[in-house]
Amino acid sequence: MTGGQPTPDRIMRLINGYWATGVLGAAAAHSLFTHLEAGADTASRLAAAAGISTRGAQTLLDGLVSLELVELRDGGYRNTAEASAFLVAGRPVCLGSFAQLKLAHMGALATLPDVVRAGGPVTDATVEVADNPHWEKLVQAIAAQSVPVATAAADLLRVAEAGEISILDVGGGSGIYSAIWLGLNPAARATQLDWAPINAIARRLVAEKGVADRLTCVDGDFHHADFGGGYDIAVYSHIAHQESPQDNMALFAKLRAALKPGGTLVVCDFVVDDDRSGPPFALLFAAEMLLKSKQGSTWRQADYHEWLTKAGFDDVSFHPTPSPAALIFAR
Ligand SMILES: C[S@@+](CC[C@H](N)C(=O)[O-])C[C@H]1O[C@@H](n2cnc3c(N)ncnc32)[C@H](O)[C@@H]1O
Repeated sequence: MTGGQPTPDRIMRLINGYWATGVLGAAAAHSLFTHLEAGADTASRLAAAAGISTRGAQTLLDGLVSLELVELRDGGYRNTAEASAFLVAGRPVCLGSFAQLKLAHMGALATLPDVVRAGGPVTDATVEVADNPHWEKLVQAIAAQSVPVATAAADLLRVAEAGEISILDVGGGSGIYSAIWLGLNPAARATQLDWAPINAIARRLVAEKGVADRLTCVDGDFHHADFGGGYDIAVYSHIAHQESPQDNMALFAKLRAALKPGGTLVVCDFVVDDDRSGPPFALLFAAEMLLKSKQGSTWRQADYHEWLTKAGFDDVSFHPTPSPAALIFAR
């Protein structure tokens, strides 16, 4: 606004929002944040370290300064605290692979006007396809997002002090919850249910953390698989947004039956306020599900409350996390 009058500045930035995805994804692809962290602080030093052109390095640096991920001090460039925490390779919370994946997915957004008209995917849907190779890249790229959330959930549930507990992770993906929780509690055991190629990835990643001997993987479709029983904690992380209300309710009922009396279901997802006024990330994420799923969306607190209550849980609580996702505990 200038003198109370609207200006086109913000809309111009929104229209060109893909520049941010491009610059961030390309910087991650060339490990720029990692080289900056190691002390390469000029375009020519970064170009030499990353094996890219100096013109390209300078362009990425200018873009990253604009995005407030890199700062210029005394003629040298350095990561901001945010980039240093979340974009340097090798750190468990590094979002660099995710930034590259989103850049690769960007072309699909051009179909959004058609998807909106049709009310769902116009090319092949993603989430309903069994054993879709889509998951193989995705689950590894999103593992870093779950690290702060799985850690926060473990603190709230006192997983480390819980002794001999058994955990079920439905659609566990990379196995990040098992890796963190089995690492915190040497007496805990976990079972992950996911497609066979994803379980193979989880076994490898969980083995890297030295706790794979306490992880069992069950291959199959969670809509049809038998969940077994006697679990103390069940995890349903970033699954609800791909499922319809009916399927979420059916899966919550199966999870209730698989838990011991008093056991806890942990749901993690982008949860919309009941009046649909926020939060911003959860509101926008619905477009991703319109593109990729026949019936998925981001759901409201009231939806979760209703489905979980109907599924037999009587104590439902919502907890913010250090990420755009919220935790829901149901007992
Ligand atoms: C968005 S990822 C979430 C991974 C993990 N829970 C996390 O929060 O990082 C969704 C996971 O669900 C799995 N999945 C999706 N549909 C499935 C189905 N019908 N049966 C079994 N697994 C499924 C995918 O393979 C993938 O690992």
